[in-house]
Amino acid sequence: MRIKQLLGIFLLIAALLSPSLVHAQNNNDIIVSINKPTAEVQPTMWGIFFEDINFGADGGIYAEMVKNRSFEFSMPLMGWTIHQNKFNEGSVLVLNRGDENAANSRFARITKNNTGDSLSITNEGFRGMGIKKGLRYDFSVLCRQQKPGLKLHIELLNNTNKVIGSTTLSPSGQDNEWEKEAISFNATDTASKGKLNIWFEGSGIVDLDMISLFPSDTWKNRPGGMRADMIQLLADMKPGFIRFPGGCIVEGRDLASRYQWKKTVGPVDERHLIINRWNTEFSNRPAPDYFQTFGLGFYEYFQLAEDIGAEPLPILNCGMACQFNTAEAVPLNELDPYVQDALDLIEFANGDLNTIWGKVRASLGHPAPFNLKMMGIGNENWGPQYIERLKIFYKAIKSKYPNFKLVVSSGTDPNGDRFDYLNDEVRKLHADLIDEHYYRRPEWFLANAERYDNYPRNGSKIFAGEYAAQSDHTVSINNKNNMATAIAEAAFMTGLERNADVVNMASYAPLFAHDEAWQWTPDLIWVSNLKSFGTTDYYVQKLFSTNKGTNVVPALLNGKPLTGQDSLYASAVIDKKTNDVIIKIVNASGKKQTNIIKLDGIKKIASQGLVTTLQSGDLNSENSFSNPKNVAPKESTVSIKGNKIIFISLPYSFSIIM
Ligand code: AHR
Repeated sequence: MRIKQLLGIFLLIAALLSPSLVHAQNNNDIIVSINKPTAEVQPTMWGIFFEDINFGADGGIYAEMVKNRSFEFSMPLMGWTIHQNKFNEGSVLVLNRGDENAANSRFARITKNNTGDSLSITNEGFRGMGIKKGLRYDFSVLCRQQKPGLKLHIELLNNTNKVIGSTTLSPSGQDNEWEKEAISFNATDTASKGKLNIWFEGSGIVDLDMISLFPSDTWKNRPGGMRADMIQLLADMKPGFIRFPGGCIVEGRDLASRYQWKKTVGPVDERHLIINRWNTEFSNRPAPDYFQTFGLGFYEYFQLAEDIGAEPLPILNCGMACQFNTAEAVPLNELDPYVQDALDLIEFANGDLNTIWGKVRASLGHPAPFNLKMMGIGNENWGPQYIERLKIFYKAIKSKYPNFKLVVSSGTDPNGDRFDYLNDEVRKLHADLIDEHYYRRPEWFLANAERYDNYPRNGSKIFAGEYAAQSDHTVSINNKNNMATAIAEAAFMTGLERNADVVNMASYAPLFAHDEAWQWTPDLIWVSNLKSFGTTDYYVQKLFSTNKGTNVVPALLNGKPLTGQDSLYASAVIDKKTNDVIIKIVNASGKKQTNIIKLDGIKKIASQGLVTTLQSGDLNSENSFSNPKNVAPKESTVSIKGNKIIFISLPYSFSIIM
C-alpha cells in the first residue's frame, strides 16, 4: 500500500473521527508538507556515469571475448599463445598491410605443411573467458586464402585446457580476397577462465584478422552486442541519463590519445584501436593489456541510452589533454576540428536524413533521431586555458543550437582555488550545467548534505557528475563500498534531492570494475567473467533513481531540513503522476531512532505505507561475489494513523517510505 494523496474530505473525516490519533507537534516530529512543493525534480536527476576504466568496455560491457582480436596492440601477439610441436610444421607471422587498411593494418599469416597437426593459436581472453554450459557462441574471422587447404578447428578450453565446445571452419573465400567467415557452436561446460583455441589441419596459407567470439546471450540478443547481466543492472536503476565515454578517457594522456567519437562509428574492423589511458596510469595496478578497440562506440552508446530510457550525455574533448598527465592543449587557432566534432555529433544524433551525419546514423540502422539535448565540453579541465577554449565551443554551439544544453567543468575538486576560479568564470558565461566532482571520505559527504542549500537559485544548474565516498584512499584495494559509504552517499543525496531546483543531475563514478583488471576503487558494480553484483552504494543509487518523484516537498524538523540532527538526514518528494508521497530517511547513527512523521496537507491517506530499507548494523558490511545481496533493500510496512507515521529508523539505515 502506498501513501497516496486523494480527496481532502477524507482527512477531515479521519481527523474528526480519531482526534486521539492527532498528536501535538513535538521536537521529534518530522513535518512533510505535501502541498508546498519547492522544486521540480528533473527527469534527468539520477543517472549513470560510464567510462572504459577497470575493463568497463573492452573486457566489460562489450561482450567480445577475444583480446587483441586484430593484432593491433602495441605488442601484436599480446593475449595470444602460439603452439607447435615441430619447428618445421609451419609458422604464425604478424604482417602489416599499411595503408591498405590503415585503421587495422596488422593480421596474422598462418603457414602450415602436412608434417603434423599441432600448430595452434590460443587467446586468453580478458583475464580468461567466462564460458557458460549450453550457451551458443558466435565465432567469426576475416580470412584471406593465400594458398587454400587449411581447415580451422575452433575450440573452447576450460580452466584446465580441456575442450568444452568445438567446431570446424574451412575458409571458402576466393584467393587473395578478405572474407568474413562465421560459425556458431555450443559450450558443453562452464568455465570461469576459459580460452579460445584454434588449431590448423592440412597444408596451406591463410591470413586471419578480427578473430572474434561473442556469447549469444547479449543484451537484447544483439550480435556483437553487450554483456546482458551488466546492462540489466543499469536498466534496473532506471537512470535518467547516461554520461559517456568518461571521465579522463575523454581527455587522453595526450591529445593524440583523446577520445574521438568519429573514429568509433562504422564497421568495427575499421575502428582504429588506441591504448587505453588507464593502461599505465597507476604503477600499483598496471594494465598493459588495456586498449580501446571501440567495438563499443558512440552509435552503441546512443543505442544503449535509448534501450534503458536514459538521456544520452556525451562528454567531448575541449582541446586539452589530461592536466595530470601531459596537459597538452591545442593552440586556439587550431581548435576548429574539435569544435566541428561537437557540432557534427549533434548532427549525427539529431540531424535529418539530408544531413551528412544524420545520413551516417541512418546507415548504421537508426533513421530516427536520438534526440540529443546536451553534451559536456571537457572533463576535469581547469585554468584560464580551459575557459578560453570553452568560450569558443559555447559560441559555436549556442549560435547554431540555442536551446542545446552544455555541461562545463569545475575541475577536479569541489572547493579550492581551482574550483572557485572556474565556478566564477563559468557562471559569467551563464553555463547551463556545472559538473562538480567529489571523491571524498564518508565524513565529507555527511558534512556536506547542506552544500546546495545556499547555492544561488538562479543561473547555472549543477550536475554532480562524479562522486563516491572513499572508505580508504582512491586506488587502494581496501577502498571498498560498504555500509559506511552507502549511508554517507545516501545522506548527501538527500541534500541533492532537496535542492533539485539547483541540482539537475547526479551520477556516481566509476560504474564498473572487473575483479582482476580494475585500476580504480571504489566502484559501483563489480564483475568477474561470469558474475556481477551491485555494491551497497549501487542500491542507494537505485533506490533514489527508482523513487525520484516529480516535485520536492519540505521535510522539516523544528522548521529546518534534516541535515544531520541526531545523525538523521531526510528529503521528500511527491509524484504528481502517481500521487505518491515518497520520504527518504537516513539514520547515520548506530542507534535506533523513533520519529513521528506528520504529513501536512495530505488529503487522504492509506492505513499503511510501504517501507524499503537498506540497512546493516555494521558499517563495514559489504556485498561480494559470494554474498552479492548481503546488504540489499528489504520491504516492510508501517502503519499510518491519521496523517502520522511513527517511524523507527534502524541503526545505519536508509529507508524510503511511500
Ligand atoms: O571516475 C574515475 C576518474 O575520476 C574519472 O575518469 C575522472 O574524471 C576522475 O578523476
